[in-house]
Amino acid sequence: MFLKYPLVGALCAQLLSLFVIKIFIQVIQTNLQLSYLVFLQACLSVFITQQIFKLPKWFFFISILFPLTFVLAFHFFQFSSWVYGVLFIFFALTFSHTLKERVPLYLTNEKTYQALRKITKEINAKSIVDLGSGLGGVVRALSEKNIFSYGVETAPLLWIISSLLSFFSFKGKILRQNIWNTKLSEYDMVYAFLSPAIMEKLYQKVKSEMRSGSLFVSNSFAVEGVLADEVWQLDDQRQTILYLYKIK
Ligand SMILES: C[S@@+](CC[C@H](N)C(=O)[O-])C[C@H]1O[C@@H](n2cnc3c(N)ncnc32)[C@H](O)[C@@H]1O
Repeated sequence: MFLKYPLVGALCAQLLSLFVIKIFIQVIQTNLQLSYLVFLQACLSVFITQQIFKLPKWFFFISILFPLTFVLAFHFFQFSSWVYGVLFIFFALTFSHTLKERVPLYLTNEKTYQALRKITKEINAKSIVDLGSGLGGVVRALSEKNIFSYGVETAPLLWIISSLLSFFSFKGKILRQNIWNTKLSEYDMVYAFLSPAIMEKLYQKVKSEMRSGSLFVSNSFAVEGVLADEVWQLDDQRQTILYLYKIK
């Protein structure tokens, strides 16, 4: 369960640590300094996320940073309460998929846009969709007079911002639509920059819906057990790899 929803695991680890520390303080009947409490909280939650829940390595850092930032924000800086409300709404409207689908928000860069433009020319694509289009950069970059470029995005704030950008730049169109409800048969090229956690499920959809002769391109995440027809290694800073799967 926690491997499927690691953020829920990380939150439970924090709550569990808090509970253990509370009992510990009651037992020793001494009030500990705040810095000791933060240290204990971080150590315990690192232990729980890494040794008990066996969450990925980067939760090591989240376990340490969470109590630290929490104490810094609430103890040392006296923000008024509406700031936290606004921040909460902002994160909820932007990162709604991180918790549900384990797909964080990171964006395709300019060098990758160029490579994608080259691919669309090579296959003479007339219709393209970016599954989970974020701020819509790919959609606008691939939009041309004779190319219909679409994005599907459900995170509300991202959808609003990218729709406005598309509207005012006359480049592409963003649909407020879930990836899993998107008909892939309508597109010559489907692009995804998502997460390894959903690649297998996504490829099943790709295989059953995409037309023969069309192309599925995945940024950074290969489909396990399926040999890509082409692999493009880009020379950008993050050494992006594009996996190209031709639909037969
Ligand atoms: C890694 S970002 C990629 C953004 C954009 N494609 C790019 O390359 O710049 C993944 C995006 O997919 C969106 N997403 C994740 N799951 C989704 C789903 N089931 N339906 C629609 N969008 C989804 C997230 O909100 C996020 O904006």
